[in-house]
Amino acid sequence: MAVALVTGASGGIGTELCDILAAHGYDLVLVARSEAKLRALSERLEGTYGITAPIFPVDLAEPGVADTLHDALAEQGISVDVLANNAGFGDHGAFLDSDWPRQEEMVKLNILALMRLAYLFGNDMRRRGAGRILNVASVAAFTAGPYMPVYFASKAFVLSFSQALGEELRGSGVTVTALCPGTTATGFWGAAGMDAGNVFSLMGAQSPRAVAELGFAGLMAGKPVVVHSLPAKLANVAARLVPRRVSTWICGQVLKRRG
Ligand SMILES: NC(=O)c1ccc[n+]([C@@H]2O[C@H](COP(=O)([O-])OP(=O)(O)OC[C@H]3O[C@@H](n4cnc5c(N)ncnc54)[C@H](OP(=O)(O)O)[C@@H]3O)[C@@H](O)[C@H]2O)c1
Repeated sequence: MAVALVTGASGGIGTELCDILAAHGYDLVLVARSEAKLRALSERLEGTYGITAPIFPVDLAEPGVADTLHDALAEQGISVDVLANNAGFGDHGAFLDSDWPRQEEMVKLNILALMRLAYLFGNDMRRRGAGRILNVASVAAFTAGPYMPVYFASKAFVLSFSQALGEELRGSGVTVTALCPGTTATGFWGAAGMDAGNVFSLMGAQSPRAVAELGFAGLMAGKPVVVHSLPAKLANVAARLVPRRVSTWICGQVLKRRG
């Protein structure tokens, strides 16, 4: 049976991705920090779909953890056919007033861990001549984001990196898909220090299930980029039409008020 590794499996879009992958017959490897949530998810998925879903309760922002995970799977003879790099978080507030360790952790998780997992499992996939990588970017990848500057920049990185890697791997049997969700109703906003109700009333919110379904479909089709929701698609088009300083200003005005 094919195996899918999902990071950030313990909640939100990640849990929905796990359900969809399991329903399509994938065995899973569940990665996030919350051991109890992973254990409960594993039991539910194994019971419902008759798959195996071992858990790896680890902090991917810690140095060397991606390598440890890769080594542990190799030792157990598990090869990963689908890598879903979904774990990520944001932090709301002006950069110079922000908590430095949190900004650093964001870069380590949203960028470095994603890169390292793509490197390790991507090499395995290329050797086998088959594999699929899903990197969760965001509508935030389309513009600079005052009051969430590191998060927006990290997602711009994910989108750019994914498109470039996908192009390098063209014809290799390995595909790379960047998923760009718009505002989605998950724990993301609370974790970023924002009032989710405020955000959703201004921008609306998609269900994580719908986002995961689009991501799965794009992944299976080998699409380089999939953008979820009409507002996110409009933001993508608008960001190309207006000067970047204008999109940056508008984004700043919105995010300034969403504390
Ligand atoms: N929600 C939105 O509006 C939205 C929009 C665009 C893009 N996205 C992106 O979608 C992805 C999933 O987010 P979500 O909306 O589903 O938010 P979420 O519900 O907060 O889920 C985030 C997941 O990442 C895991 N995680 C966080 N820090 C981690 C770490 N250091 N090591 C390992 N796992 C870690 C969390 O689990 P633990 O806490 O158990 O570790 C959780 O499973 C993120 O990359 C986010 O940037 C979200």
